[in-house]
Amino acid sequence: LHSQGEMEQLLTYFVSPKLAEYKCDTNEAISLKLVRFPEDVDDDSTTFHPEYSHQVFGDDEVAFGYKGLQIQLFYAAGNLSTLFKVKYTSKVTETFDCVEADDVEGKIREIIPAGFTCNTDDFISLLEKEANFKPFGTLLHTYTVHSEEAGELTYQIHKADVTCPGFREYHERLQTFLMWFIETASFIDADDDRWDFFLVFEKYNKDGETLYATVGYMTVYNYYVYPDKTRPRVSQMLILPPFQGEGHGAQLLEAVHRFYCSLPKVQDITAEDPSENYVKLRDYVLVKLCQGLPSFAADKLHLGFSADMIKEAQDKLKINKKHARRVYEILRLRATDMSDEDKAREYRLEVKKRLFGPYRKNQRELAKMRKCLRPEELVSHMSQMDTQTQHEELEKSYQDVVEDYRRIIERLASQA
Ligand SMILES: *[C@@H]1O[C@H](CO)[C@@H](O)[C@H](O)[C@H]1NC(C)=O
Repeated sequence: LHSQGEMEQLLTYFVSPKLAEYKCDTNEAISLKLVRFPEDVDDDSTTFHPEYSHQVFGDDEVAFGYKGLQIQLFYAAGNLSTLFKVKYTSKVTETFDCVEADDVEGKIREIIPAGFTCNTDDFISLLEKEANFKPFGTLLHTYTVHSEEAGELTYQIHKADVTCPGFREYHERLQTFLMWFIETASFIDADDDRWDFFLVFEKYNKDGETLYATVGYMTVYNYYVYPDKTRPRVSQMLILPPFQGEGHGAQLLEAVHRFYCSLPKVQDITAEDPSENYVKLRDYVLVKLCQGLPSFAADKLHLGFSADMIKEAQDKLKINKKHARRVYEILRLRATDMSDEDKAREYRLEVKKRLFGPYRKNQRELAKMRKCLRPEELVSHMSQMDTQTQHEELEKSYQDVVEDYRRIIERLASQA
């Protein structure tokens, strides 16, 4: 299964305790930084590390051949001009250790665009140009966030596309972060003009001037829908780690949603292969948008999921039926006194009815399968066991769903 060379390397690796010291966890070895001031370069408190590096360094997330490996990828906070350095205290050599070290530098070069510097002084002088860096595209939305330490900070959301001068190169630098923070990330072909880009920037002050720092972004692909509509599909979304947990994801998604709602040609807004976290974020944002609609008023909720809700969410907010259904369930939970046993049971049944859909389909398939089996192949208690397991699974998914819903309701209450 392994080539001769690899096999030898593996053997040495396990046999020699000395060589075992020469492997480094790449998630720890990679140091990322968004630099605003020259002193940030040597300030460890601004360093952050990848969550993933398997797409670059393999499933073990290990680099072999170095002791004390440090891979530095430092970015100018706005323009993302890059400083790239590889450091280590010692490295195996082919002559003495009969093994070759991994080509760490080559692997990183494959994902970062050309134009980076390896020289700290050059990087510091690029920082001085940050005052000339202005956000790309058109301003969609401005908001502020209050923090204990920093006071009131202002953020801007911009919509950009590849026709913005310098944007293509900037996006190539920006998307390298996907490799470290999205489990199955892939780079996109930004030249396709169906891509829309939404960028978040923080305004900050440096020596009396206003500068812009990159906070995060979202890419959306405009699919064509016959005959004259489009269906924007969210592809990637990343809030850079130093800014996570401050509400930027919700601001970004809401701004993007409002932008597409204003375009008559848009049918609805979807997402490509959404993560659990994205679904929670979307639920929160869509509930926030829908809670003022007449068809979702408190006195309508206990009558069930209605055609009016579907139509109003679709017409006014480009929300499809499936997403509107979740919004309804969340708003109904908020409006239901769950300590009232009858009302609580009614609510449970309503949600479980939806959750039961896929199980019912499973059961039909199972029944079909049974017809094709000989009687002796059928385990007699199989169907009973199934029902029991299904019951437990259904209860479990109901509990999970309601827990997520409760968090969304709490978050809405805290924002009110
Ligand atoms: C942005 O970065 C690129 C690449 O490092 C550089 O060529 C360009 O001059 C920079 N622009 C500004 C405004 O900093």
